[in-house]
Amino acid sequence: MHHFTYMNNELHCEQVSLKRVAAAVDTPAYVYSRATVERHYKAFQRSFTQLDHLICFSMKACSNIAVLRLLANMGAGMDIVSGGELFRALKAGVDPGKIVYSGVGKKASEMDQALDANILMFNVESEEELLLLNERAQAKGKVARMSLRVNPNVDAGTHPYISTGLKKNKFGIDVERSLRIYRMAKDLPGVDPIGVDCHIGSQLTELSPFLDAVDRMIDIIKTLRSEGVNIQYLDIGGGLGIPYSNEEPPAPAEYGAAVCTKVADLNVKLILEPGRVLVGNAGVLVTRVIYQKPTSEKCFIIIDAAMNDLIRPSLYKSYHAILKVAKADRPGPMIVADLVGPICESGDFIAQDRKMECVESGDLLAIMSAGAYGFTMSSNYNSRVRPAEILVDGAEYHVVRRRETYEDLVNGETIPAYMLPTS
Ligand code: LLP
Repeated sequence: MHHFTYMNNELHCEQVSLKRVAAAVDTPAYVYSRATVERHYKAFQRSFTQLDHLICFSMKACSNIAVLRLLANMGAGMDIVSGGELFRALKAGVDPGKIVYSGVGKKASEMDQALDANILMFNVESEEELLLLNERAQAKGKVARMSLRVNPNVDAGTHPYISTGLKKNKFGIDVERSLRIYRMAKDLPGVDPIGVDCHIGSQLTELSPFLDAVDRMIDIIKTLRSEGVNIQYLDIGGGLGIPYSNEEPPAPAEYGAAVCTKVADLNVKLILEPGRVLVGNAGVLVTRVIYQKPTSEKCFIIIDAAMNDLIRPSLYKSYHAILKVAKADRPGPMIVADLVGPICESGDFIAQDRKMECVESGDLLAIMSAGAYGFTMSSNYNSRVRPAEILVDGAEYHVVRRRETYEDLVNGETIPAYMLPTS
């Protein structure tokens, strides 16, 4: 459930008309609904109330500091994957004691930064990483709390680019090897193995892969405890899917109930790293039709949002519903069209062969379910400025990131002096 609805035939985010936002900040613009983020967070949290748990929002999904603050104010921690994300989280006022740090390629400088911040836990993904973390922590006279990210070898049944829990993926450490590395970690002075972690992929629409992974994690925790490794946390990652069109992913309540049943007697604190399920349907990308271009093969609708603004369709062929911001009293004729951006690549599309209502140049469209992995995956390709981000709250809205300017595009670039004329 989200808060994008038609009122008087005009698409609104909560009580704010998207037409009004577009008139004020121009297009393309990401528009997020505070009420939807809150609703999704609370629904997720309710699903786990029976167990001691911590929700660490996977901030790669949407890292605007206003959104982070909104979640942090409700008690959320963060799942981070870079020094940049740590910086953002701290800037947003997130409690470092609620931050877990995942990722296969943490650099020494990033470890130092996270050790200085005294984060809750590192999710370590290789033996070499463990040894480096041990070294960096010791150099600071600290002990790094950590989990190993175990690769449970389960098929998440999702797009190959976002499936992470198979042996062939670069993520995590296989079960056998992870037991060996835990035994090693137990004796290292700079690390304290207090958790077990996994994350098997994203946009999962079935429960069974999650539950298979949890079963494997439970076995590992039991084995480790029997060997004197004091595991107190189980981090089961994120990955719960959302409906983009007709998918029917398990509801958070169903997911929570199934997980809680499995780990009820384990005496661990559960860590969850949801990303998409909290923010995916809480954001849209508002765009304007620039031209219509019928060809002998296809009808192209050229819009002012492109793959640099929302790369998911180009990268994963993912589907986003597209709604007209102004709806006619009676639906107009239907067309089949490709919605494409101005970028010089044939891969620059937001929708292909989409059956949709006829549009005209100048019309505003809302690309739905763009709150997760939308802005965060945007770029400046073709020297396009990145869009504004707007957070709606009831009848008000706030520009939580202004549209970039041309000056932003060259910020930090310099021309070497020898290329400049000498005076
Ligand atoms: N934890 C870890 C360690 C992750 O790598 C991810 C996502 C999550 C949690 C959150 O997963 P979620 O709950 O959002 O499914 N760009 C892709 C998705 C990439 C997901 C990467 N990792 C997309 O647009 O679909």
